[in-house]
Amino acid sequence: MAVVIDVDGRLLPPGEARLPVLDRGFLLGDSVYEVLRSYGGRPFELAQHLGRLERSAALAGLGLPWDAARTAIEVARTLAASLGGDLPDPEGAPWNRGERSVRVLMTRGGGEEAPEVAPAAVVIAGPLHAPPASAYRDGVKALLVGAGPRRADPAAKTGSRLPHVLALRAARQAGAHEALFQDGAGFVGEGTSSNLFAVRGGRLLTPPLEAGILAGVTRGLVLELARREGIAAEEVPLEAGALGAMDELFITSTSREILPVTRLGDAAVGGGQPGPVTRTLHGAFRRVADAVARGG
Ligand code: PDD
Repeated sequence: MAVVIDVDGRLLPPGEARLPVLDRGFLLGDSVYEVLRSYGGRPFELAQHLGRLERSAALAGLGLPWDAARTAIEVARTLAASLGGDLPDPEGAPWNRGERSVRVLMTRGGGEEAPEVAPAAVVIAGPLHAPPASAYRDGVKALLVGAGPRRADPAAKTGSRLPHVLALRAARQAGAHEALFQDGAGFVGEGTSSNLFAVRGGRLLTPPLEAGILAGVTRGLVLELARREGIAAEEVPLEAGALGAMDELFITSTSREILPVTRLGDAAVGGGQPGPVTRTLHGAFRRVADAVARGG
């Protein structure tokens, strides 16, 4: 089926999925969302994503139309209905073949202006768009961009994403895979849809949550894997000016897992090759995900 959309509990093809125009989710980006993925057709880290959805809603003062148990059921049925029908993707990484990305989105509805418009709950399941296998082998380019004023609270995953959209457009125009937000004080927090890690002298470094970043589910897992692998990890502010001198850089997100960054703007980082700590951590990540794919 490939793309299936659940609107308030009804499974629909994309062309038939509709929301009222007066919903503040459409008018103002007044919504919260999550993006999770499957391995072996099974949702990965579902509890973590549903927990973060509830925290985002609390930060945005938004009442969720479904509780976590109902959301889990709707995710499972939408995901199941979307499986199959994929076109071959010879460039893709083998572990992503046939897998799904699942977006869960809940809006505030019409609010006080249009109380007859109820909050909407939407689940969109479709083919996962992930970097090609070559990106893991060679690394990707990232571009530093100014964070700009008035980003919504970065800890909440809200529908107000225009700063992220514009930063990513600028990066893509510069031939980069991802934009990294640099704040006014010269520190780098995260990418437009990823968290940032660096390696220096064998130690793993990543900005703390207080740096104003999303608590990435993948970020949390990578910190846990570092502990298991005996790699010392520190949550410390990262200065933009120091990134080019790091031994390794990588970004993490649900769809990318652990993706090496080997160029920052026009300069090579870490000799322009993915480094050993990145490879060790991605190997450990792959083992966890493969166990899920096999039903473990
Ligand atoms: N974005 N930082 C930001 C700003 C993000 O939007 C995301 C994820 C992350 C990584 O979080 P996680 O590891 O939980 O995926 C960090 C999703 C994938 C998206 O909006 O598509």
